Amino acid sequence: MEDLSAFFPEADTFFRANLPIGLTFDDISLATRFSDILPRDATLSVSLSPTLHLQIPILSSDMDTVTESAMAIRMALNGGLGLIHYNMTDEAQIKEVARVKNHIHGFIREPIKVTAEQKIGEVLDRIARKNFGFSTFPVVDETNRLLGLLSGRCVKERYREHSVREAMTPRAEVYTLPESAIRENPIEAADEFFTSHIGINKLLIVDDQDRLCGLFTLSDIERIEDEATRIVKPARDDRFRLMCGAAVASHRKPDGSLDADRIVTHVGHLVDEGVDAVAVSTAHGFSAGVGESVRLLRDQFPALTLIAGNVTSADGVAFLAEAGANCIKIGQGPGSICTTRVVAGVGIPQMTALYVASREAAKQGVTILADGGITKSGDMVKALTLADGLICGGLLAGCDEAPGRIMEINGKLYKQYRGMGSREAMKDGSAARYGHDKKDATSKAAPEGIEALKESVGPLDSVLRELIGGIQSGMGYLGARDLPTLRKNARYIRVSPAGQKEAAPHDVITVKASANPAGE
Ligand code: XMP
Repeated sequence: MEDLSAFFPEADTFFRANLPIGLTFDDISLATRFSDILPRDATLSVSLSPTLHLQIPILSSDMDTVTESAMAIRMALNGGLGLIHYNMTDEAQIKEVARVKNHIHGFIREPIKVTAEQKIGEVLDRIARKNFGFSTFPVVDETNRLLGLLSGRCVKERYREHSVREAMTPRAEVYTLPESAIRENPIEAADEFFTSHIGINKLLIVDDQDRLCGLFTLSDIERIEDEATRIVKPARDDRFRLMCGAAVASHRKPDGSLDADRIVTHVGHLVDEGVDAVAVSTAHGFSAGVGESVRLLRDQFPALTLIAGNVTSADGVAFLAEAGANCIKIGQGPGSICTTRVVAGVGIPQMTALYVASREAAKQGVTILADGGITKSGDMVKALTLADGLICGGLLAGCDEAPGRIMEINGKLYKQYRGMGSREAMKDGSAARYGHDKKDATSKAAPEGIEALKESVGPLDSVLRELIGGIQSGMGYLGARDLPTLRKNARYIRVSPAGQKEAAPHDVITVKASANPAGE
């Protein structure tokens, strides 16, 4: 049979044959391959570093209208990762990360406690003040020794004047396990305990001197077990906490040198809270300052997953990999709110940038993220033929969980979405990302991003469901059961302007557009 395989070449042949033209998502289509899998059986799990394992290869962008704790919690519950932005004070960012890491996680290491001498009324006031959603508390003395358990049954207005000591279940009747009994597998140990103790829904953990060191609740354990049967599993660390990333800037001192103390101290606090990845996020990652920051962090935090960027060349990937990054962000100017290419005349169309970066990343043993310009699930499939993961801004900015303000225009709901290089965002702190000082943001610095609106698209869960379904469809067409096979099976074809027209709905009157951005 005549060999026609040259029509749909693999990446090395295809991108070289198109030189010197840079290609982006819509310039390309993927060829179908023999398939013996159903799309729903395609798995999307990915390891971005030796310790960062995700169930889906999607990260929400570190932008102030995309990722704060609400978005990061929902991203992790769906198996992905949120990168908390840095347009806030260091203290506020640490709190945002802590919110994600402390979202229900089975074993509560620092339970809220009360003392025996307190009045029930004081406990009630604290619950109201702190907005606690629970009312059962361990009772401890000043050395944290367990004295009893104050049950929610007793935390009532009518007992306001009674002391905690009068109301609590005494120590001898409180169910506990020693710390040593749960060390191997805390969730399994708690699960076994609740099964063999009918009607008990709190289990306290104590050390060998009877000091409180943690608490399990039955409802958290049941929620975790429920997750095990779900198709999309949350991204959790080895202590069952949700995974969370945070972006940091390469801060400089007034004399222009790197502010190493500030960077190391802040990242140290993030690590104390359990952050799973820190991203040194700038517009130009192939620069001395970013290299210095990555080297500094690698030196100080040898085991921490470091993401760095952005770059678009093989040299840029090699530079950041050699500095110590595990995972490198690829993309300069493709973003929906970016004007870098217009303002600075710089940037590489995204698929060509990803191709070049992917070849160098393989040599260096690092992973890459396709960052920017993804507007539909088809773009995601194309990007994943070269990249290990994806960063999305605009696709997620219309979700309920994004921090942007909601506004109504002509009866439609929109959310604010702005580039981190827009004048307003730089004034709020992101100027460092573009190599400017915050105080220059209003005067000297040329903005490289715009302020925009995205149509409100409802909860992240449903947007991700559509996007993941689209990626699985693409994998089904390419006979790829997993992401490494997708990369291996990818074959490409150039698309002409007529081909692009053919690819979208045409020559019909649209009655109903796709409900969410994934299918537009
Ligand atoms: P999308 O297309 O997902 O892009 O909305 C999000 C990505 O764009 C980058 N970003 C910017 N790039 N000027 C730029 O040139 C900006 O103001 C800007 N803000 C964000 C960033 O990599 C993000 O993940």
